[in-house]
Amino acid sequence: MDKIVIEGGLPLQGEVQISGAKNAALPILAATLLAPGEHRLDNLPALADIHTCEKLLSNLGARFKEVAVNAGGTNGSLSIDTSDLQGFEAPYELVKTMRAAVLVLGPLVARARQARVSLPGGCAIGARPIDLHLKGLEAMGVKINLSQGYVEADARRLKGAEIYFETSTVTGTENLMMAAALAKGTTVIKNAAMEPEVGDLARFLVAMGAQIEGIDSDILTIHGVPELKPASYRIMSDRIEAGTFLAAAAITKGEVTLLDAPVPHLTAILGKFTEAGVRLSATKDRVTVHAGGNLTGVDIRTHPYPGFPTDMQAQFMAMMSVARGASVITETIFENRFMHVSELLRLGADITVTGNIAVVRGCRQLQGAPVMATDLRASASLVLAGLAAAGTTEILRVYHLDRGYAHLVEKLAALGARIKRVPA
Ligand code: EPU
Repeated sequence: MDKIVIEGGLPLQGEVQISGAKNAALPILAATLLAPGEHRLDNLPALADIHTCEKLLSNLGARFKEVAVNAGGTNGSLSIDTSDLQGFEAPYELVKTMRAAVLVLGPLVARARQARVSLPGGCAIGARPIDLHLKGLEAMGVKINLSQGYVEADARRLKGAEIYFETSTVTGTENLMMAAALAKGTTVIKNAAMEPEVGDLARFLVAMGAQIEGIDSDILTIHGVPELKPASYRIMSDRIEAGTFLAAAAITKGEVTLLDAPVPHLTAILGKFTEAGVRLSATKDRVTVHAGGNLTGVDIRTHPYPGFPTDMQAQFMAMMSVARGASVITETIFENRFMHVSELLRLGADITVTGNIAVVRGCRQLQGAPVMATDLRASASLVLAGLAAAGTTEILRVYHLDRGYAHLVEKLAALGARIKRVPA
């Protein structure tokens, strides 16, 4: 297992290419199961989660061909042939390594009219049940049986339904939208998640021939069609990777331009950076962080899109740990998403947590130390803290980062960071 070693204290400089979005790519890959034939996906990020998803779809009979890879190897294009489905199961071995594997439930229900998908179980950031996915499918006429840790779905009578989500759920909305695309009749999803990745999936479904109204809004109306056809699609770029690089530039007082950044989807993030004193300039697909003075403590509260994303909370906390003044960070989406706090404390941060609220009192200087990554975004926050800290920071369990950041070490090194990956 590798570790990341960072000698902190250097301001980052230069340009960085933002990769395709993990959380758009995963549902879109799953959606290729809906239409038999050869699909083509571009701007797929080189991530462990994408490989896990490929394994999952290969198990179901999909055949993958690499069509192209970009210069840095961070993004690629794939052709996916889903002509022959050979099963309808997502096994525990794969679902336990990546919860998003549950995204094959909707497509399997729609195409194979049956599915057997392992329940994902607990997760480092919270309980994360899938009850809302299952309730929605039941409303659509799917018979659900829970047996030996698996969801068994019989969808012979898949039909449209009116569904209200009492909690906005990203993958829940995606699963139901995919099932509804091939259901008999019309499905209306109210309080649908409005995350841009849900919109990206909807646009891919439309490219395949689905009929969806209200894309990007919280009410989706899906008129089921008898069949879908394969399509080509370019995945949107990753707003959380973009936010993480903005934070890397800000915390090191650097000057960095993000290329291919999904600027229209970064409004809440950019707003908080500006409030914290970070000078920014942006066009439609580029943002530059200008070398700045000290950061100022600001409060954030995570919220479903268009609010401040929970997936940027840990990274923002790292920034706030070196800001002037205090910051109150309220996590409202996941009940256990402060695992990074105890590791940031090891680097000298001053943070107290009560329930879902963290109070961060900015310190002058973090000090390097060995720390342990606990989940994807927590790991990113430790990298950011390490970039700002004096001395050496070692981050163990870096496989968490591989799940969601394409070539993070190489990208940061190209911006001048003293960072390397070595065997632990
Ligand atoms: N929830 C339920 N029941 C359900 C579904 C969700 O109670 O059936 C609750 C969850 O426990 C949570 C809230 O609803 O408290 C929102 O969860 P959501 O379902 O929206 O999360 P998700 O779909 O499992 C996706 C992303 C996460 C991201 C969240 C929130 C993917 C593959 N994953 O998860 O991404 O944090 O939405 O925006 O899209 C990450 O990339 O690091 C990551 C964790």
